[in-house]
Order: sequence, then C-alpha cells, then structure tokens
Amino acid sequence: MIGLVGLLASVLLAACASPASEQAAVQSATAEQAATAEQAARTMLVYKSPTCGCCSDWVGYVEQHGYTVTVEEVQDLTAIKTEYNVPLTMRSCHTALIDGYIIEGHVPVADIERLLTERPDVVGIAVPGMPIGSPGMEIDEGVTQPYDVVTFNAAGDTEVYSSYQ
Ligand code: CU
Ligand code: CU
Repeated sequence: MIGLVGLLASVLLAACASPASEQAAVQSATAEQAATAEQAARTMLVYKSPTCGCCSDWVGYVEQHGYTVTVEEVQDLTAIKTEYNVPLTMRSCHTALIDGYIIEGHVPVADIERLLTERPDVVGIAVPGMPIGSPGMEIDEGVTQPYDVVTFNAAGDTEVYSSYQ
C-alpha cells in the first residue's frame, strides 16, 4: 500500500515538475496579474451624500458599464474634495477614486476609459456642476445642456478633455 502511494506521489511530482506545466503555471500567473490590473482599473470608490439621487443614478450607469463600485456616504463632501485637490470651479456632487485618479461628477464612461488608457499627468477629470443630459442627469424629455469633461491638476490648472453637445 505504502509503496503504491509513494509511487503515485512521485508520478504526480514528476508531472508537476515537467517543463510544460511550469510554463503553463507562468502563463497563468501572468494572466492573473493582468486580470488583477484590469480589476483595479474597473474598481471605484464613490463618495456621495446620503441624499444624492443623481449620484446613485451615475453609480448605476458606471456599474452597467462593468465597473465595480463601492459607495461611501459622507456628510462633508467638501472635505473630501479638498483632500483630493478638486479645484472649486470643478466641483460637482460626487467624487470617485479609481486607479490613482479622481473622477468628479457626472463623467461619461468613455472619458474614464480614455483616462485610464492614456494616463495623463493630472489629478483627475471632472464634469463641473451637474449638466442636464450628462450620465445620471438625464431627464425624460431628452433635453441636454452642452458640457465639457475637464482635466485638473493639484495646482488647479484645468484643460478641456472632451466636449458633449
Ligand atoms: Cu449629481
Ligand atoms: Cu453625484
């Protein structure tokens, strides 16, 4: 009996140590790292006030686009925005953190994807205020206001990233 178990164990060990399975193990580790990076890029933390309905609508919108969202409800959003260097003129309702960047307000997913791909040297991007027709700010009649997505840095410099009509 013991001999048979020992034999089986050494056969299994031999199989595990074969170059082919070592290579497979390396490949799966690389795939795992890529998946982890992908996951980090798609996981966001959203600070919002407990009463903000349009914030919840925006969270639903990004979730529909495959993002995993953790919502943290806070009373003092101003403190959060100040802590994360969101310039006064860029502020909106909610503030989100994703993969080292700040997303302020009703930013479309296309701009988040572009930000995470291009990785510009900025603190984050914002849709200042709460323009009608931006994601989470839709109204029944389909009325929209033109708005810009704007990058900002810690010095308070801003630059238009994209424009919506
Ligand atoms: Cu809002
Ligand atoms: Cu909001």
